[in-house]
Amino acid sequence: MSQIKEAAPAGEAPPADNAVTARNISKNYGEVEALKNLTLDFPRGQLTSLLGPSGCGKTTLLKIIAGLLTPDEGEVLVNGKAVTGPGPDRAFVFQDFALLPWASVLRNVAFGLELRGVAKSEREAIAEKSIREVGLSGFEQSYPHELSGGMRQRVGLARALSVDAQVLLMDEPFSAVDEQTRRKFQEDLLGLVQNENKTFIFVTHSIEEAVYVSDQVAILLPRPSRVSEIIRPSGFRHKDRDAIRRDSEYLDIVDRIWASLRSYVE
Ligand SMILES: Nc1ncnc2c1ncn2[C@@H]1O[C@H](COP(=O)(O)OP(=O)(O)OP(=O)(O)O)[C@@H](O)[C@H]1O
Ligand SMILES: [Mg+2]
Repeated sequence: MSQIKEAAPAGEAPPADNAVTARNISKNYGEVEALKNLTLDFPRGQLTSLLGPSGCGKTTLLKIIAGLLTPDEGEVLVNGKAVTGPGPDRAFVFQDFALLPWASVLRNVAFGLELRGVAKSEREAIAEKSIREVGLSGFEQSYPHELSGGMRQRVGLARALSVDAQVLLMDEPFSAVDEQTRRKFQEDLLGLVQNENKTFIFVTHSIEEAVYVSDQVAILLPRPSRVSEIIRPSGFRHKDRDAIRRDSEYLDIVDRIWASLRSYVE
């Protein structure tokens, strides 16, 4: 698609390039106000984390962006077009992996393409590439029960990469794995964000994780649910992966976020 970009007038910032925009979203479940008038932009090619206390509506927002839930008010735009349901431009990486237990890793990874009617040889070639990208080469013929939780998580991620969706929605993808595996995943995720030019929307409960992997962290607070702050870490974003965890800006942001969230932890 060719698009003519007009130069911004002198002194004005160019318009932001947002892959996804959530505009004035409200969603109630019966009496429960899950989201109220929430507006948030997700810049293209970047990773945005949603961070906030349990029950503040993170999963609800992700499902609305995925088109799995309809908001009561407001709308989500993907590339400027209103979302009316699920679509090939968005892929969801579920916390519980959602793998087919009776199918091999290769078939699981290729499954999204199978649903789209892609021919077997083509979808397996694509799946093999994604399996390499997430570091699972050699396990193509294994079954989910033969893998560790961390490896199963990688299968779920490889499946999302295979369908080549532009927007990847990840709901606490690393919560079921041990601390060391999680750190490795976080590093791998940084690499994916740099190499893939996809837009990542990432839900986590871990402040450190959010600050480590994100271009933008949106802090959500409950009752009523709202975006209380948007933080864009800058100084350490392009530093060496290990240096980030020792960086003073990184540590300051982690402290600041904890200060604003601590009173919500029950
Ligand atoms: N299907 C549902 N029916 C009724 N209430 C729901 C439903 N799903 C979510 N809720 C309520 O809506 C609110 C937001 O839920 P949501 O799952 O979006 O929060 P969350 O931020 O993802 O929480 P967590 O961090 O625990 O995953 C909560 O109060 C929850 O109890
Ligand atoms: Mg949730």
